[in-house]
Amino acid sequence: MTATIAILSALVDEQRGLLDALAQPRRVERSGRTFWTGQLSGVPVVLATSGIGKVAAAITSAVLMEVFGATQVVFTGVAGGVGPGVAVGDVVVGNAFLQHDMDCSPLFPRYEIPLYGQSLIDADPALTLALLQTCRYTPLVHPGHAVPVVIHQGLIASGDRFVCRAGEVAELMAAMANAGYHPLALEMECAAVAQVCQDYGVPFSAVRTISDRADAQAHGDFQQFVTQVASQYSFQIIMNLMRLLSKM
Ligand code: ADE
Repeated sequence: MTATIAILSALVDEQRGLLDALAQPRRVERSGRTFWTGQLSGVPVVLATSGIGKVAAAITSAVLMEVFGATQVVFTGVAGGVGPGVAVGDVVVGNAFLQHDMDCSPLFPRYEIPLYGQSLIDADPALTLALLQTCRYTPLVHPGHAVPVVIHQGLIASGDRFVCRAGEVAELMAAMANAGYHPLALEMECAAVAQVCQDYGVPFSAVRTISDRADAQAHGDFQQFVTQVASQYSFQIIMNLMRLLSKM
C-alpha cells in the first residue's frame, strides 16, 4: 500500500482551504464522518474531521488506519494556551501528549493510562521535526498584530472539557505540575489520537494555533478566530509540510 498521510482536525473550519487544494478529491463516508482522499503537492493524503473530544478523535483515528491505511497522522487545529509566554496567535507543536482528565488513582498513578504503564505519549521525532521546521519558515501573520508569530514546542494536554472558567485552568495546571507535567496548551483530542497511533505503530505529530488562554474570555470570538486566523495558519503549514515531505 502507498504511504498516505492523514490530516486530522476536530472541526471542518480548521481545514478550510485544504479541501479546495486537494487534487483528485474523492469523498468517502465512514462511521458517520466524511473523509476526503486525494493529493496535496503530489503527496497522497486523507483529510478527516473527527468532531470534538477524545472518543470522537479516537474513532476517527482508528478508521484512518483501518480503512484508509494512513501511514502518518498530523493533527492541525486550535488550543488554549496555558504555558508561560504562550499567547493567542502563537503556534504550539506537540512533542508529547497527556490526558489531563485521566485519573484511575489509587489503582494507577494519576494521569497514567491504565495498563499502558505510561502517562505521556511522545510525538514521532522525525515528523515533529519536519512540522517544526515547516512552522518556522512559513510566514504566518496574525492579523492586526505587529509582533511575529511565536512557534513553541512542548507538551499538549487533552481532556473532555472546554476549559474556560475562572480558577479551572489554575487548578488543572497545579495538579499536573504536582505530577511533573507542564503543558503549553490544552485541547480535547490529541492525546487520544496519539494513543491510537501508538497502538497502530503509526507516526503522529500535531500543530495547534492558540485561540485563547483557557480563561473566562476563551469562548469569546472562538469561531471567528478559527475561520479567520487558525484555518489560514493550518492551510499554509500543511501545504508547506506536504511540499517538504514530497521532496524526502
Ligand atoms: N481548544 C481551544 N481552546 C480550548 C480550551 N480553552 N479548552 C479546551 N480545548 C480548547
